[in-house]
Amino acid sequence: MPRQGLESVNCSLIAIPVLENETPVTITPLIRGQSTPLIVIRCGESVRVYANRCPHQGRPLDYAPDRFLTKNATLVCAAHGAVFGMADGLCLQGPCRGESLTPYASLWQDGVLRVEWPDPLD
Ligand code: FES
Repeated sequence: MPRQGLESVNCSLIAIPVLENETPVTITPLIRGQSTPLIVIRCGESVRVYANRCPHQGRPLDYAPDRFLTKNATLVCAAHGAVFGMADGLCLQGPCRGESLTPYASLWQDGVLRVEWPDPLD
């Protein structure tokens, strides 16, 4: 079930008490009034946040909410099988090889995820 965040101008704060290592979850915070699907992945001591949108055809990577194909620290797009590194979002294999998932700066601390949004003028 997607979790909603608190909207602010440049970030959202989202309660995620538990993140299993290398187990992606989805969140759908409001970014400037629009629900925005994101993937959150804990990689050891750090957390990565990416847009849940494949660079190949723009489809979500999960085959059902919070259901992802994963293998050896990679994430596989359910549509056509593009394989992305969890730690850097780079496509290692598949139809968009060399492209990347869109990353967002984030910090996960005390069960709260802070996701930074780019400046609207960027
Ligand atoms: S939409 Fe992801 S591989 Fe085609």
